[in-house]
Amino acid sequence: FRVDWNVEQTEKDGFEHFMLKEIYEQPNAFRNTLLNRIDEDGKQIVLKDFPLRPEQINRFEKIFIVACGTAYHAGLIGKNVIEELARIPVEVDVASEFRYRRPIISEKTLVIVVSQSGETADTLAALRESQRLGAKVLAITNVQGSSIAREADYVLATFAGPEIAVASTKAYTSQVIVFYLLGLYLAQVKETLAETERECLIANLRQLPEQAEKALQHADDIRVYAESIKNHASLFFIGRGIDYAVALEGSLKLKEISYLHSEAYAAGELKHGTLALIEEGTPVIALVTQKELEEKMVSNITEVKARGGNVLAITLEGNVELHRNVDEVCFVPATLPVFTPILTVIPLQLISYYTSLALGNDVDKPRNLAKSVTVE
Ligand code: G6P
Repeated sequence: FRVDWNVEQTEKDGFEHFMLKEIYEQPNAFRNTLLNRIDEDGKQIVLKDFPLRPEQINRFEKIFIVACGTAYHAGLIGKNVIEELARIPVEVDVASEFRYRRPIISEKTLVIVVSQSGETADTLAALRESQRLGAKVLAITNVQGSSIAREADYVLATFAGPEIAVASTKAYTSQVIVFYLLGLYLAQVKETLAETERECLIANLRQLPEQAEKALQHADDIRVYAESIKNHASLFFIGRGIDYAVALEGSLKLKEISYLHSEAYAAGELKHGTLALIEEGTPVIALVTQKELEEKMVSNITEVKARGGNVLAITLEGNVELHRNVDEVCFVPATLPVFTPILTVIPLQLISYYTSLALGNDVDKPRNLAKSVTVE
């Protein structure tokens, strides 16, 4: 009799790596994070853990979002969402910069810190500095009972479950889900959206878990694509608006575990420098989900193609015309413009996973990196 498994394999649930398992856990992580936060008839957002009176919320003139790494990228999405839905100005900063730059904050500022572990030293220091300056701090974290959860004035938990792989996936997307809830909630209190508009957004928000399941079905194609990029010296991710924030996360994910050099660029900014780096065959991943920016994106893609770049576009189902302008297309389910990041990031996570795998790297424990950084 031979025992052919160990505890780690059991925890991986049949997946080869924790990262892949966590990527596939995303639909359920979204369901759990949304649970009990939307009223029964889908008309209102209910955030019991953020018990501020409307007059307190209306006093906030500005929001700061502060975080590190992937959580910072969730914050960039958060800025887009809150500004778009609730029309409150938002500034996003990496915690290690924020804490030393004498930020201009007061009682009229809401500071939101985002941290999967709730233990990142710089983020915790930013929280303390904000409170010292008189601001209220809301934490978005995955670990209840963590230092950040204990010290913050309010906590909105992500219910992603334990995340083991160093490269964050389900924690990131669950943070984005919390920003959707928060953006809609602030909009509800500030009455910046018509009721029908809010209900339509909530209905679409509820579809995201199922749509994420569909976005996961491209894994085989992505595996082939990963093989094609693994020997390139450099890659680029481009996008505009909210797509640019996703491009940054896609690039970070790839760097973290494949060790390939990549850069994310605001597509309109390419011509001011980075275009010089595009050569014959350079892989460029273009995020194209925002209808009103599509024409501009296509013109940026054309610039890249004219220099020999090989373009994979990530776009919404139905956008078939895009085929004409790019080399390859990966479709994700169609949703409202504000919700696309949660779906487009899924193929990017899979690209980084399969590239790392193809290169024979330690996917779950990449070199030089730690899951939780509790020193400065
Ligand atoms: C480390 C991890 C990253 C993570 C960052 C922030 O650098 O390797 O994956 O995004 O810390 O972690 P936190 O727990 O605060 O979200």
